[in-house]
Amino acid sequence: MLPEPLLAALRDAQHVCVLTGAGISAESGIPTFREAQTGLWENYDPMDLATPEAFLRDPELVWRWYRWRRDLVAEAEPNPGHRALAELEELVPKLTLVTQNVDGLHARAGSADVIEFHGNLFATRCFVEDCLVEVDTEAEIPRCPACGGHARPGVVWFGEAIPGQALDRSFAAARDCDVFLSIGTSSLVYPAAGLAELAKNHGAVVAEVNPNPTGLAAFFDHAVAGNAGEVLPELVSGLRGAP
Ligand code: APR
Repeated sequence: MLPEPLLAALRDAQHVCVLTGAGISAESGIPTFREAQTGLWENYDPMDLATPEAFLRDPELVWRWYRWRRDLVAEAEPNPGHRALAELEELVPKLTLVTQNVDGLHARAGSADVIEFHGNLFATRCFVEDCLVEVDTEAEIPRCPACGGHARPGVVWFGEAIPGQALDRSFAAARDCDVFLSIGTSSLVYPAAGLAELAKNHGAVVAEVNPNPTGLAAFFDHAVAGNAGEVLPELVSGLRGAP
């Protein structure tokens, strides 16, 4: 059940900022980072798969893991939560969507401009020059077509910095927005977790959507307990004035 004051704040908002995490893709069947350590991969530590050191040590192993993840995501579909956020874009004057997910499902659901904090599974960068490159990712160890160095998955690994432009844009949006929605994220990983705090300090109404209360539940003005795939379509219907 959506709190009426939250709907009222969304109706009045000039700018809504949304942060999503792994929870929004759960209903598309995408395992979270740690859940992905199952089956074939259960004996591996994420630190052996998602760090620059791991890649230097064994690029072929890292690429095998990322190919496996890409295949999982390629077979998945955006769910009603992703689609509702794409619709929300049309219902408010301005919406900034920031995601910690690398699955690209927001764009596939129709969201026009997605700030990807942690990059994208389907992007590839040159490990040497750190620029985006197009490569044959089916090769055992793809190579940069320009310099011949190793190509790497275009995601942000443990210990790496979030791209500066993504940081600047999302922090500016958090400062400027009237409503901040935190959806399907454990709100534990900084700097993403700091966005809600920044928004609140600048006067925004802050709300979370999560079936399990997070440690920050007392911080939020509204904590909506539920699955994103159910709550977000309800929120869009509420804004459209449907019962
Ligand atoms: N709808 C909404 N939320 C859900 C749903 C759902 N259907 N299912 C689960 N959740 C919630 C969980 O209760 C949990 O609080 O989604 C949250 C997922 O939390 P995490 O797995 O910690 O994911 P996230 O917050 O995105 O993690 C941030 O940490 O592991 C790194 O780089 C990785 O991007 C990731 C970052």
